[in-house]
Amino acid sequence: MSYLSIKGLSGKATIGGTVKIVGAKNAALKAIAASILFRSPLLLDNVPDIEDVSRMLEIIRTMGGSVSVASHKATIDASTLSSTTLTPEISKRLRSSIVLTGPMLARHGLVRFPHPGGCVIGERPIDLFVEGFIKMGAKVKKVGKFYHVAAPKGGLRGGELFFRTQSVTGTETFMMAAVLSRGVTTIKNAAMEPEIVWLADLLNASGAKIAGAGTPTVTITGVQLLDAKKKVFTVIPDRIEAGSFLILGALAAKKLTVTNVIPEHLESLTELLTYTGTKISTTKNSITVSANKKKGGLCAVNIRTHEYPGFPTDLQAPMVVYLTQAEGESLMFETIFEGRLNFTESLNRMGANISMMDPHRVIIRGSTTIKGSHLESPDLRAGLAFVIAAIIAKGESKIYNVYNIDRGYERIEERLRSIGVCIERKE
Ligand code: EPZ
Repeated sequence: MSYLSIKGLSGKATIGGTVKIVGAKNAALKAIAASILFRSPLLLDNVPDIEDVSRMLEIIRTMGGSVSVASHKATIDASTLSSTTLTPEISKRLRSSIVLTGPMLARHGLVRFPHPGGCVIGERPIDLFVEGFIKMGAKVKKVGKFYHVAAPKGGLRGGELFFRTQSVTGTETFMMAAVLSRGVTTIKNAAMEPEIVWLADLLNASGAKIAGAGTPTVTITGVQLLDAKKKVFTVIPDRIEAGSFLILGALAAKKLTVTNVIPEHLESLTELLTYTGTKISTTKNSITVSANKKKGGLCAVNIRTHEYPGFPTDLQAPMVVYLTQAEGESLMFETIFEGRLNFTESLNRMGANISMMDPHRVIIRGSTTIKGSHLESPDLRAGLAFVIAAIIAKGESKIYNVYNIDRGYERIEERLRSIGVCIERKE
């Protein structure tokens, strides 16, 4: 069982340097799914070299598509897909596999899939997907653990969808399903994440007709199969990876710069870091932080996670670690997932003082001294939060379930070592 062994800095701010941010996991995964809408191969650049991307490409390959990947570039030809069943052993562990259902239904009129798995952060229902497909004229049948969805004769019909809760993959799935559907589809209360805007731009540059991506109302007019005409699409930088490194820098760096970022995508985080006492400077494509090590330098704050442009739930766990070092009482209100605060028990074992008020709310009392411990990463974002806690801790830590971290962070130990972190991957 491999683990990450980390020697803590005992609260000192001695790391520093520059980290180049890689392409966004939650953009690349959806572009791979979008390849099913194309009559010709889709060319991507700046694709992160992470487990979830490998899994998604594996699904396309096992279903009959052809995929080639080399040094962050991918060529995906899904025009030869021969199966309409999402590879079960992969899709039941990968939540993002759900987005394949939209393009599959739109192009092939049929898709079978198990309830998609993923992190342990909450129940992860797919009722919005089932309801949406029915509204577009499809028939949905549950056969054992599988869903069988069949489009009507003549293909999916455009429809009026209102998401009673904003859903990132829901918005992406139906935006893609509507691209090849008959007529016009409107998605209301759509999610507005930057990854959705980037996906819409990629589709529109290949012949789709999508308006309003990045606003609460997205309108899609159905067209024929897309063709990128050999254009190469560069995946936008991963704002969650960038935010995770910035939080680490705000706790442990003399000076840390993240490059190849879009600062506007990180405003909710940089606002909060500045407000609580961290020094930050920004250029067009980089952000630099320095740890504020004055006694009482960081002050407590109340945060609620929220759909974009609010504070991202994917940065909640690293931010909780940051708040253990802020003077006073902070509240973290995780509004999106009901199981995403359980990792705080492990932080308490390291010396944090976090009380769970209910499954959505914790109070963090700081600042406390964090001591090294043995930890199991429950999901990729809490896994990275444990890495940050281990780096600021007194003494050594071992973090198991490294696969969960590799799902979303490329070459994590190598890139941390490059900024002075004492970390090793051990078998
Ligand atoms: C996406 O998950 C991301 N995953 C998540 O990132 C991210 O945390 C989440 O959006 C919120 O930003 C990918 O893009 C692959 P949702 P998604 O549908 O789309 C409820 C990471 O670490 N809901 O926006 O699955 C749901 O329970 C991952 O990279 C329904 O009720 O999240 C949640 O409470 C973790 N019914 C809320 O909506 C549905 O049919 C928002 O979930 C679908 C969702």
